[in-house]
Amino acid sequence: MTAASPVEHALEVLGAGGLVAIPTETVYGLAADASNEAAVRRIFAVKGRPADHPLIVHVASAEQLGAWASRVPAAAAVLADTCWPGPLTLLVPKAAHVLPVVTGGRETVGIRVPAHPLTTELLQRFGGGLAAPSANRFGRVSPTTAQHVRTDLGDLVDYVLDGGACPVGVESTIVDCTVEPPQILRPGAISAEQISHLLGRELAAASGPSRAAGMLASHYAPEATVLLAESADEAAVLLAAHPDARVLDHTADLVAYAQRLYADLRQADLDGVPVVVAVLPRAEGLGHAIRDRLRKAAH
Ligand code: TXA
Ligand code: MG
Repeated sequence: MTAASPVEHALEVLGAGGLVAIPTETVYGLAADASNEAAVRRIFAVKGRPADHPLIVHVASAEQLGAWASRVPAAAAVLADTCWPGPLTLLVPKAAHVLPVVTGGRETVGIRVPAHPLTTELLQRFGGGLAAPSANRFGRVSPTTAQHVRTDLGDLVDYVLDGGACPVGVESTIVDCTVEPPQILRPGAISAEQISHLLGRELAAASGPSRAAGMLASHYAPEATVLLAESADEAAVLLAAHPDARVLDHTADLVAYAQRLYADLRQADLDGVPVVVAVLPRAEGLGHAIRDRLRKAAH
């Protein structure tokens, strides 16, 4: 007899309506079968998440977009083709079968093809969609390692598929393709500049009903008070006023900054650091996403 592989075990748990923490390139997700209403409801209970905050449906490949959308807008088709698998979520009009519990009662659904070998294998063998928010408790920073998930959720998650540390470290870029022109609802590793280039046109600033769905000002908060600095000089001034503060500054390497951001904030809490002084990167490319998450942590 051979023991079930981790992916096989995850499949069994999902098939039985359980919750599995899945590794993705961005952050860990707390996944349930998107077609099982009771299983999806458990995600909200475990996270302590309000029911009107919609979940992203994760699928194995771009070809599945049409199965979850009632209509695939041209912009969504282009972005799915060029960016998936990858750290990008596309909002499209939902297909009739998509459960209201997944979309928070909305007529749109967020779809994403994550790029992580274990989760790709899981999704291919599962066949359907996995509804998954980030696997943290509501209002806390997202988990970027299996240990972060265990610390946050303990026995509330039925299985943690350990895929190591997430290489991107911040949540996916969300593009609302149901409006004209498309809007970026959440900045991520795929930048607004790239998306605008791929679509060959300017994007609109986020506004309207999709913007309001769970885009809270404070969302990624550690225990420590986070103070923001626009430069190393400004950080030095803040540090003089708060000698017990820890400085967070990886502005020389934004990929590393994003990758380490949540682990660094969690570590500051574990170490009992009362104040984190975070140096903001310049507002370009990945810098937008890091600034966004730091602002929310500081709120
Ligand atoms: O990188 C990611 O996107 C991670 C990994 C696990 O895939 N997931 C993630 O999920 O960050 P979550 O639930 O923590 O954040 C998704 C955000 C929420 O703010 C939610 O309100 C918004 O996306 N969202 C999802 N579906 C939406 C919809 N139909 N309309 C408007 N906002 C939506
Ligand atoms: Mg989240």
